[in-house]
Amino acid sequence: MVDHIGTLVILGAGGDLTKRLLLPGLGQLLGSSRGYDLRLIGVGFDPMTDSEWRARVIDSFTAGGVASTRATTVAKNSVYLQADVTRPADLTRILAAAVGRPALYFALPPQVTIATIAALEKVGMPKGTVLGLEKPFGTDLRSAQALNRQLAKLVPEKHIHRVDHFLGKSTVLNLLGLRFANRIFEQVWSAEHIERVDIVFDETLGLEGRAGYYDKAGALVDMIQSHLLLVMALAAMEPPSSLDADDLRGSMAQVLRATHAWKRNAVSAGRRARYGAGTIEGRKLPAYVKEAGVHPELDTETLAEVTVGIENWRWAGVPFRLRSGKAIADKRQQIVVTFKDVPHRPYGFTGNPGPARLIISLTPDSIELDLNINGEGDPFSLDRVSLDVEFAEGELGPYGEVLHGILSDDTTLSVRADAVEECWRIVAPILSAWRKNSVPIDSYRAGSAGPTAWR
Ligand code: BG6
Repeated sequence: MVDHIGTLVILGAGGDLTKRLLLPGLGQLLGSSRGYDLRLIGVGFDPMTDSEWRARVIDSFTAGGVASTRATTVAKNSVYLQADVTRPADLTRILAAAVGRPALYFALPPQVTIATIAALEKVGMPKGTVLGLEKPFGTDLRSAQALNRQLAKLVPEKHIHRVDHFLGKSTVLNLLGLRFANRIFEQVWSAEHIERVDIVFDETLGLEGRAGYYDKAGALVDMIQSHLLLVMALAAMEPPSSLDADDLRGSMAQVLRATHAWKRNAVSAGRRARYGAGTIEGRKLPAYVKEAGVHPELDTETLAEVTVGIENWRWAGVPFRLRSGKAIADKRQQIVVTFKDVPHRPYGFTGNPGPARLIISLTPDSIELDLNINGEGDPFSLDRVSLDVEFAEGELGPYGEVLHGILSDDTTLSVRADAVEECWRIVAPILSAWRKNSVPIDSYRAGSAGPTAWR
């Protein structure tokens, strides 16, 4: 029997994350077959009455459609507590308002999260308390290690959920079924048969008013360190014996430990660029450096590309290229596995459409296998065909999945302490080369496909 959480406490209830992602995800989860009754407490620094808070909750619950009866009841019984979460006395008051096992979700800026965790140490945690932490998880390897040590003093690792909503995306999860429930792929899933793997997540969105956070992070940390390395871990890990949290996360950590900048050269392994003014999807975007709150002297990149190698028996010599950019017109969000060419193509064939590819697309959710077959007209010419399937949306979106993990205290889809540290370790030399300006920053027009020289 799952020992469900009795109360979900959102710290940072007045913030954008709560409104845009957490509450809609919760509303969806409550209305799904996996929903159940719980108490919801919103905690914020600013004053708000219970009825103002409930109206916000209902607004967000209905953002994705009609709120279910269960979601409406949870919203009606929800309360708001005004508090300074860095003060032990306020935290004691918050924990006293919870019924059953509490889950504390930190939807707070990183510095406030750190101060709150320090204050919680003085308060002590009720038995079975679960913690949910949003990225960024630290700002470098040392701060992530320090945060992990702090958290370990509060609750056991099995109750700590470091959230990566990419691990809640249904197509990312499809990787598991595709790889481990079909005999045909796993046999060719290695350097012997695979030439390269590209994991690309380009977005049409620009900064969207997030300078306070993004300007210090940049695309390398915001996307590659936080998300794409974990997607790569799922794509490249050894088959786990089960999908439980220990087995799955053990396999992920193991492959991350073997990952390094390509040829261990932090300078040549990556390139970076920043968008200038342009138009995208009919919207005019100012140059990144002209966006409100941006400090041009930080030289923050909005497009990052990094090649890493996995130094183990299965993958030695295969480049994994991870790329993510903002304000890019061609919104490619996919994992592309390019197979090696055949060792010998019988003489007599004409045409060579290139090696077979498997494309796992994150948006829209689809899988496509590109193969070469005999052409329709001339039977000895080779043509490309694609076998593809598009998936209906999963029952839950990424935040619904993440919250389901937290409320059922199942850490399978959350990031384990060592994996977070490995992700920082992998990007550290590249980040340092970029900060020292050893790699020039290129530019591209918002609404283009990236710097012309990169194509
Ligand atoms: C977030 C990043 O974690 O993921 C954003 O901070 C990015 O910069 C977002 O836009 C992308 O994920 P999704 O699921 O919103 O497309």
